[in-house]
Amino acid sequence: EKGGYDYFMLKEIAEQPKAVADTLLGRIDLAGNLCLDEVRIPASVLREVSKVVIVACGTAYHAGMIAKYAIEHWTRIPCETELASEFRYRDPILDQRTLVIAISQSGETMDTLMALRHAREQGAKVLAICNTNGSTIPRESDAVLYTHAGPEVAVASTKAFLTQLVACYLVALYLGQVRGTKWGDEILSVIRELSEIATQVDQVLETMEPVRELARTLADKNTVLFLGRHVGYPVALEGALKLKELAYMHAEGFAAGELKHGPIALIEQDVPVVVVVPSPRGRSVLHDKIVSNIQEIRARGARTIVIAERGDEAVGPYADHLIEIPATPTLLQPLVATVPLQVFACELATARGNEVDQPRNLAKSVTVE
Ligand code: F6R
Repeated sequence: EKGGYDYFMLKEIAEQPKAVADTLLGRIDLAGNLCLDEVRIPASVLREVSKVVIVACGTAYHAGMIAKYAIEHWTRIPCETELASEFRYRDPILDQRTLVIAISQSGETMDTLMALRHAREQGAKVLAICNTNGSTIPRESDAVLYTHAGPEVAVASTKAFLTQLVACYLVALYLGQVRGTKWGDEILSVIRELSEIATQVDQVLETMEPVRELARTLADKNTVLFLGRHVGYPVALEGALKLKELAYMHAEGFAAGELKHGPIALIEQDVPVVVVVPSPRGRSVLHDKIVSNIQEIRARGARTIVIAERGDEAVGPYADHLIEIPATPTLLQPLVATVPLQVFACELATARGNEVDQPRNLAKSVTVE
């Protein structure tokens, strides 16, 4: 049942191009328009939405953080993403014009369920993004957009995460489309790029051997740090979470701009720091800033592991290890940038002799608060 792989996690990492393609299937028509009729919230209601609030836990929360960048950019609707476990305890402001998006692979996470119940009691509409047909979260929501990752057995979420991202992009682009924002042309070109993204995920998977080799050399380290900016920041958090749960190592993700406000004090000789670099095209200011962050930490002795777009010449001189990923629009980059971090964590955990599919103390679905 592991299809020739040693672990379910390896199988599920390898299934990502298909999971992504399946989640897109039938949702983009030949003219490049989104067809999300299954989201039964009428376009007239979506046009009136004044705020989007995303609630989720763990890896799904990281997908929600990325969705915030996409939703605000493409729709100009204010969006906040919140840990489901914090949400209802702070008396959040919600009304009939609030669209709440609850993201959950299992559809049974108690914190997320309680958050969505609270939101509906306040009159908000809830859209679930879920991987499990007929589970509790979609049953209790106003609408659901299913991800088609197929069953995820390994405790650490991989393919479900990528499909959650795809679903979030679809919702963001759909909201942009029904509301007709000035980003119309950009939305069409992103839809085109999104429909080809599975091929790029596949390309990343084919170049992972050096990442595995690198991971094995780090098995005796105590700490690994992760840095990113913009959508690379949640990717850094996700890389750190995977490493914590699988390798049982101290791993922390930071927004690269925060370095100078404290975390740079952690940089010492030989500490591995993984840096997610945004595309040098488009928002190049961000790119230049992160290149100077890499220089700063390297000057203080960090061992830099740099994930950057193929052909990005500016980072080469400062990367002790360079992991190249295909070019994508900035907002879509998490779909390709996360994959090496999954492989990295899985291999490091194996090198440390850990049980990859069943990490200690964790359960696949967390049905208690
Ligand atoms: C991490 C992981 C967890 C889940 C979280 C939410 O690899 O799997 O952080 O993402 O428990 O689970 P769902 O998506 O089922 O609500």
